[in-house]
Amino acid sequence: MNANRDQKYLIQPKPPIVHDELAHIGAGLRFSQSPTNFLAQMRKEYGDTFLVDVFGYKLFCVFSPAGLKSLYAAAEDEASFGMATFDMLGFKTPLDIFLDADIDLFYELLLPQKVAAYVEDFSGAVAEVLAEWGSAGQINVFDEIRTLEQRVGFRVWMGEEATRDGVWQAFKMHFDVLSQENAFVSPQQTLDTLTSGKAKEKQAVAEITTLVGGIVKRREAADDWPEDNFTFLYHRFRSDDPQVTLRKLTHNIINANQGFLSNLYAALSWSLINLKQYPATQQRLEAELADTRATFGEHFYASQAALDSMRFCEQLLMESVRMAQRSITLRKVMREIQFDCGDHVYTIRPGVYITTMLSVINTQTPELARFDPDHYQGRRIDPRLIVEGKETISTFGHGSHACPAQKFSHNMCKVLLAQLLEKFEFGAPEGAVEPSSAQMGGVARASADIVLGYRRKKQD
Ligand code: HEM
Repeated sequence: MNANRDQKYLIQPKPPIVHDELAHIGAGLRFSQSPTNFLAQMRKEYGDTFLVDVFGYKLFCVFSPAGLKSLYAAAEDEASFGMATFDMLGFKTPLDIFLDADIDLFYELLLPQKVAAYVEDFSGAVAEVLAEWGSAGQINVFDEIRTLEQRVGFRVWMGEEATRDGVWQAFKMHFDVLSQENAFVSPQQTLDTLTSGKAKEKQAVAEITTLVGGIVKRREAADDWPEDNFTFLYHRFRSDDPQVTLRKLTHNIINANQGFLSNLYAALSWSLINLKQYPATQQRLEAELADTRATFGEHFYASQAALDSMRFCEQLLMESVRMAQRSITLRKVMREIQFDCGDHVYTIRPGVYITTMLSVINTQTPELARFDPDHYQGRRIDPRLIVEGKETISTFGHGSHACPAQKFSHNMCKVLLAQLLEKFEFGAPEGAVEPSSAQMGGVARASADIVLGYRRKKQD
């Protein structure tokens, strides 16, 4: 009763409210079991706009074209992406990291000339990892690609020292403790994190700080500052107090590595899996790779111009992301706003979260439920699929918070697939393959492990 009175007060006119036998908790449990299935079911029962209380969080869910348009158009000081992200990730991530992390940094690290320069790093790091694979074997796709991408990340966001044997494994071990991925799917893990006061996570940050401090010491002693992001970040956060420099440097390195890993490795994994599920798609990519090689030479994947010409690979990544997206788009209302959902303009008070779930909208028609890279032309979606509004499908987001790393991610996909297909043949996955419905946030892993057999085509 009280909860309903409260919700009525928060949003006017009163939207449909999801009822559950157990106030707060009942809907929360159903939501945490499978956010995608739960919200899809609630949409069937309550329509395109409704309010649900998930463990006390008031989620105002929107799925209508007008509601989605308003969601992506909302101004940061009215409905905040930053505060919503803080609340969502703050369960797991030690708060000091948020206090030092600077979102503008991503835009500096992803300037076009830097993005073009990273392809050399991608190419080198991917080649190094693939050289370690045997002449034949099996890979657990999501785990293998995740580790590969972490190693690429250590090179790109730090420097050569972080990729050395013995060092990258130590970084990986501590970064894995901080991983957000399981925070929502495993209530037990979340409970451990909360009851321990994030003890393991804080210890992992301390260990990463020590490792980063070791690199700083070595570079300072040798006065050896190569032109990489470690040097860039060191100078950006340098202050009179070496402890403050080290803290800010480490926290921003952690943030960069986590942002880098959050969607991309699963998107790369799906791109590979989809090649094996749809042989015609693999043939088209192989043909594009052969053309690109003929035009730009053997090591075309280290050239931005060559990568820009690979439009079919872009279609593959976009389609793979569209189908496996499990991101929740979340904004926290900071001051009273008017919010247009098409049928009503709602007055929403601070504290409510406005949200949509990409997995509920991205595959909502029979045509959209079908995998077809020709749903895109390069990175552009076929306009016939979004006649009701561009916001009705999302891969890299819309509006002011749309992903700044889209081109960067396409580069990584092109470099990885070019080398994988040049060096290896892969078998097809066994059985049905579908994205996990339990995952919330980011491009999902598959609902079960996907193991692919491989055979090396030629020795390096
Ligand atoms: C296939 C890979 C990726 C996908 C599908 C993806 C998807 C998205 C989406 C949907 C958003 C918007 C979130 C919202 O509106 O609430 C977003 C934002 C963002 N992404 Fe990505 N992302 C990918 C890769 C990356 C990578 C590799 C990085 C970092 C290197 C990155 C950094 C960011 C940042 C910093 C934002 C927030 C931008 C802002 O608020 O101004 N993303 N991403």
